[in-house]
Order: sequence, then structure tokens, then C-alpha cells
Amino acid sequence: MNQTAQLLNQARDAVEGTTTLDELDAVRVKYLGRKGLLTVRLKELGGLSADERPAAGQIINEAKQALTAAIKTRRNVLEKERIQATLQADGLDVSLPGRGHVSGTLHPVTRTLRRMLRIFAHAGFEVHTGPEVEDEYYNFTALNIPKDHPARAMHDTFYLESGLLLRTHTSPVQIRAMEKHGVPIRLIAPGRAYRCDSDLTHTPMFTQVEVLTVDRGISFANLKSFTYEFLSSFFEREVELRFRPSYFPFTEPSAEVDVLSESGRWLEILGCGMVHPKVLKNVGVDPEEYTGYALGFGVERLAMLRYGVDDLRLFFENDIRFLEQFR
Ligand code: PHE
Repeated sequence: MNQTAQLLNQARDAVEGTTTLDELDAVRVKYLGRKGLLTVRLKELGGLSADERPAAGQIINEAKQALTAAIKTRRNVLEKERIQATLQADGLDVSLPGRGHVSGTLHPVTRTLRRMLRIFAHAGFEVHTGPEVEDEYYNFTALNIPKDHPARAMHDTFYLESGLLLRTHTSPVQIRAMEKHGVPIRLIAPGRAYRCDSDLTHTPMFTQVEVLTVDRGISFANLKSFTYEFLSSFFEREVELRFRPSYFPFTEPSAEVDVLSESGRWLEILGCGMVHPKVLKNVGVDPEEYTGYALGFGVERLAMLRYGVDDLRLFFENDIRFLEQFR
């Protein structure tokens, strides 16, 4: 009994004397490990008489528990000291504000597109889509641009080896939608279009929103009023527009529309016109009974005007310093 008590005192002193967690662990092993001094004492119980054994066993177990508790207390102290030491050594100032994180934002073209879709949804247009890899029929022929028509050359088309092509505009969706759903119809077709073309106001890939309304009694006056209504609500001001006579094989008459920017410059933003009777015939609609208007908006052009950006290519370089400004 005395030996156990002595051993415990000795072990406690050793525990108190430790200055690192490693030292503390060494003390634990020395006394409580598998061959530790206190552990071994339990094994020696076999040498005692049956009368002495229970009391001796109890004393040793109590000693082990007491030492385990002492080690735990010491470990807490040492761990705190270590944290303090690390904090001081690393010179970490926990009162400094955090670095925060940079969160992404929607691309300005996406924002513009969403804004347009919201306005169209209020006006009751249905969203239709079509493939970006098209065939000649939908991209050209059905839109009254037959083979060898000069307008095909105007389109700077990317042809694929398969004979298919990257659509040069969203107008083929007009054909697909009317073939499938017939008329009357009122749709928008947002999506990407491709042309082998690149300068300040043209990029090889760009975004369009096609608008098509076909019904009985639709006139150019409807087209004009729709255009004014839409653009005024898009820009949140009374817009000044210029309808320039133009030519598209799939509309007659045709026009291109310029908007007066806030900096006083005219920027072309869309092509439009009354759906050509031949186009209606191509989808089995009687042009004597139905008329319609169609528009093709350049989404990046609208984004340029809305955000005051004067080089279209900036939208596709994705320079973070440019994109960051659209929060
Ligand atoms: N598809 C034409 C273009 O991309 C735009 C357009 C659409 C013109 C609808 C008239 C009617 O240039």
C-alpha cells in the first residue's frame, strides 16, 4: 500500500514537472502504459493472499484513476499554453477583419437577356428554342434564301464538314415553331448565332432574341408600336428610334432599327419586318389570311447601350476587371 502511494506521489510530481505534451505522454506511458509501473503492480496482485488482494487491488485502481485525472488536467494546461505560444509566434491578430470572399455575378449579357425575357413574358410571348447546328433548309431555304442567292454570302456562314452549319441567326426557329404549332403564334426565340465576322460591333458568336407574331390583321403599325413599347420599357425611358428601310429575304417590307444612345450616338440594335408571304407558304400558312411581323434583336447591342460599353468584344474576353463592374 505504501509503495503504491509513493508511486502515485512520484508520478504526480512528474506530471506537474512536464512542460510539453510529449513529456506528459512519456510520463503516462511510464506509469500507466502496458508495462507501466502502476500497471505492473496490478499484475503482482497474484502474489498476495486472497484476503489482501481486493483491498490492494482497489488501492491500485484508485491510484490509476487519480493519475489519469492529473494527466488530463495537465494536458489541458499544456494545450492552452501551446495555442498561446503558436498565436504569439505566428503573430496572428485574431481581431483583424476577415478577408471576405469574392462572389461571382451574372454576366452582363445574361443580365440583359433575362431582363428582355421578363418584359416579353409580361407581354405574353412564349419562349421557343432551336438547335445551334442547323441545316440549310431552316437557316436559309425556308426563309426565302434559296441556293445561290446573294444573301447567303452576306451571312458569312460557318459550315461544318457534315454539310450542316452553325445557324447565322435565330430566324430558323420561326420556321420550326410554325411547322410544329401552326398559327396564330406569338413567340420569342433567345439564343446564340454565329458568323465569321469580328470588329468593334461584331463577334463570331453573338446572342439574338427572335420575335414572331402571326395572326389575322397584323400590320406594320403593330410592329412599330411593339418596338417602341418594348424598348421604352427595356431602357426605362421614352426611346428615340430610327426605322431605316432595309432588306431581308424573309420579311417584306424590312427595316433596321437604331436607338439613340444617351451619349447621342445611333446604334443599330435589330432587324425586322413583315413576314414574307413565301415564308408563310413554306410552313403551310395562307398569307391571304394571316400576316405577321418578325424582329431579331442583338442582345449584346442592347447590353452595350444599357451599360455604356463601346466595344462589343469586351463581353467575350471575360476580363475579371471588366466583369466586376456589373454588380
Ligand atoms: N435574322 C436577321 C439577322 O440576323 C434579323 C431579322 C429577324 C430580320 C427577323 C427581320 C426579321 O440579321
